[in-house]
Amino acid sequence: MFFKASKRSEKVSYAIRDIVVEASKLEKQGKKVLYLNIGDPLKYDFRTPEHLWKAVFDSKQKGESYAPSEGIKEAREAIAENFNRKGMRVEPENVLLGNGSSELIWFAMSCVANPGESILLPRPCYPVYSAALPFYDVEEKYYDLDESRGWQPDIESIRKNIDKKTKAIVVINPNNPTGTNYSKKTLEEIISIAAEHKLVIFSDEIYDELLLDEKEKHYCMGALAKDVPVIVANGLSKNYLATGFRMGWIAPNEFLLQNSDIMDAISRLARARLCAVHPFQYAIKPALEGSKKHIKDAVKKLRKRRDYSVKRLNEIKGISCQKPNAAFYAFPKIELPVKDDKEFALGLLREKGVCVVHGSGFGQKQGTKHFRIVILPPLNILEEAFNKIEEFARSLR
Ligand SMILES: Cc1ncc(COP(=O)(O)O)c(C=O)c1O
Repeated sequence: MFFKASKRSEKVSYAIRDIVVEASKLEKQGKKVLYLNIGDPLKYDFRTPEHLWKAVFDSKQKGESYAPSEGIKEAREAIAENFNRKGMRVEPENVLLGNGSSELIWFAMSCVANPGESILLPRPCYPVYSAALPFYDVEEKYYDLDESRGWQPDIESIRKNIDKKTKAIVVINPNNPTGTNYSKKTLEEIISIAAEHKLVIFSDEIYDELLLDEKEKHYCMGALAKDVPVIVANGLSKNYLATGFRMGWIAPNEFLLQNSDIMDAISRLARARLCAVHPFQYAIKPALEGSKKHIKDAVKKLRKRRDYSVKRLNEIKGISCQKPNAAFYAFPKIELPVKDDKEFALGLLREKGVCVVHGSGFGQKQGTKHFRIVILPPLNILEEAFNKIEEFARSLR
């Protein structure tokens, strides 16, 4: 008797981690692998700020029990205050904490649409969204990000892909995998389309403090949208270099609270899973209210690594790269004789030991080929990786 996993589970895949299975096989055979595939600063030369760890250690007594399902009061107050500073009015009792924003994304996707309805996702898209929707039998519809305009959302493509079944639109800003921070004008256009078609906006802003150019400014969707329901997601993982803490949160704008029961539904799911990990919740207040020096330092390092990466990528014949202005990713285009970008990524891994994620793992405009790299490694590692990518591209031409 073979005990077969459910059909529903077969619908879930996650390219960023799937490629690691292949990389691990190579490592077991004694091959060196350079990992440029996971957006985790802590795997490179970035450390979680000490004051966050101290708050966790200091919570030893109070953090041993279950926490309230929605999260501890002091963290929710600090998060609400943080949103208020960005211009989005939030009351602490409407903030919901999760085990990473990932958990809340899964909850939210299940609560904004019914089976058979659809949610609009960006293409390319961070794959947790495209994993969750089929699991819930919610249809994935995609709008393109426009590579020729530095990967800003293509407004026409949004309009084209809305139909009667569309309930919500996901906006990831700054974006993973393209590293683009969206302009205010683009965001306002999205808001006006959402108002016209009565859509909920789910705005994932987990990289909002990692802006790589001084002229860049991030606009919180919940602050811009007054007459459209918005849920904003954020967390400690990226801005606060604390991926291992698994602390994420969401908050609604006032319009959503007044015109929808979606937050109640998400809170019900949160209660059914008891609570987010308790001790790490104590790091949220010191993170949001304490020193932000680590962000300045991280951005300084990332800017150098971004400049170097974009230069090296654009020097390779058959590869071109838009300059990312936020987060820590680049999404270069491949114009080389390969069947598809998965073949490129697997070939690069097997032959040169460089692990990147194929663009198709994020979805992309039909007929195009890309790969995602992280610009997190120190310059000497990046140099080694780009030398190998260059050799591999040459071997294909
Ligand atoms: C756009 C985006 N949203 C959400 C997440 C999940 O973050 P976490 O679950 O650590 O909060 C990630 C992680 O890479 C991401 O890139």
